[in-house]
Formats: sequence, structure tokens, C-alpha cells
Amino acid sequence: MMKHEYWLGKWSAGDIGFHEGVINPLLESNIEKLAVGEGKRVLLPLCGKTRDIHYLRDRGSHVLGAELSEIALKELFSDLGVTPEVTELDGLGRYHAEGVDVFLGDIFLLTRETLGAVDAIYDRAAMVALPPEVRARYAEHLLSVSGTPPQLLLTCSYDDPVVDGPPFSINENEVRDHYGHLYTVAKLESRILPGVFGGRIEVTETAWLLS
Ligand SMILES: C[S@@+](CC[C@H](N)C(=O)[O-])C[C@H]1O[C@@H](n2cnc3c(N)ncnc32)[C@H](O)[C@@H]1O
Repeated sequence: MMKHEYWLGKWSAGDIGFHEGVINPLLESNIEKLAVGEGKRVLLPLCGKTRDIHYLRDRGSHVLGAELSEIALKELFSDLGVTPEVTELDGLGRYHAEGVDVFLGDIFLLTRETLGAVDAIYDRAAMVALPPEVRARYAEHLLSVSGTPPQLLLTCSYDDPVVDGPPFSINENEVRDHYGHLYTVAKLESRILPGVFGGRIEVTETAWLLS
């Protein structure tokens, strides 16, 4: 299990190379396939402070997130330019502002009741952030709290005998292992992801539509 301290330490050290700072191009080019327009509730597991939250919210979606780091949430809401209303719900912090609710704490503590309805899931750098032994439980939990809505999943893949994640390499067989029994899995598009692991190896990012 990737320890919570690992991620909390990254945020407090400002060592957040995973934060893209721009809208993810594969989200932008495939957004219509996910049907997350006006009023739709879209869940971003392990959301960090991604610009994708701004993008989805600006398009009228209600963004739901789960994130361990309070620093991430403070920076997210500061970037959004809104002051969140912070309350506690079932042992998690709930950061709410218009068009957004992010739950602070371990995603495995999130329940379907706390989260409410979910129309779509967008996973970027969430499944690939988790070590192999946690991923099956993560996929199962994600679907149990959301009820298996359509999902845009971005994975990373690379072939290197030495380098290990995060981001971990996830291939098509693994995507199908986690999701193939409940979803139709379609590979949408891939791109070379620049700058991962200091650019030492070639990493491919692939978008999957699970419907
Ligand atoms: C690789 S980052 C990706 C963040 C975001 N999705 C993005 O695209 O920038 C993974 C994030 O998951 C958070 N995280 C890790 N384990 C978590 C857990 N069990 N519950 C909630 N958040 C978690 C970390 O703090 C970190 O911000």
C-alpha cells in the first residue's frame, strides 16, 4: 500500500510533478463522449488540484472529488478563486462551493450516501497512482460508491525493467480485468506523455471509455 504519508509529504514539499497545470488534452478531446454537460455530477477520484476540475465546472458540471491532502484542497479553492464552506460528513471533510464538492480524506472511507448521485467518472492519475495490490480494491470501491456510471479512464504505460511507479504502468489486460465484467471497454486514443520520470523513458498515456 502506498502510504498516505508518501502523498502528504509530496504535497508539503511541493513535489507535485503529477500536477499538469493545464487541462488534460485527452480529457478535452474526448469530453463529448463522456456526456458531462450542464448539471451532471462527475467524480474525480484522487483529484489533487487539477485544472480539469476548473474545466468541468466551467462547462456546467458539478464536480465531486476525493483527495487526501488538505494543502491540495486549499490550493485548489484558491486557484478557483472561491472560499469553500468546510464541514464534516461521515469522518471526511467536505469542501463545498458552487459546482464543486471535494471530500478530504481516504477515498476508501467515502460512501455512496456521502457522495450522492454520480453521472460520470473521470480518472486521471488516480488508478495509476496506486500500487498493484490496491488497484482491484480501488476499482471495486469506486464502482460501489458511484453505481458504475460511464467513465473516462486515463492510464500510463511503459516498458522498463527498472523504473517503477507511481505512475504505475497499466496495460489493456489490466483495464479489462478491473472493469471488463461491468463495462464495455473502448480504447479511444493515446499520446506520448512528456517529462515523466525526468524524461528517461517513454511513457504513453491512453484514454479509455468505459460505458
Ligand atoms: C498522482 S496524484 C493525481 C492528482 C490529480 N488526479 C491530477 O491529475 O493532478 C494522486 C493524488 O491522490 C491523492 N491520494 C493518494 N491516495 C489517496 C487516497 N487513499 N484517498 C484520497 N486521495 C489520495 C494524493 O494526495 C494525490 O494528490
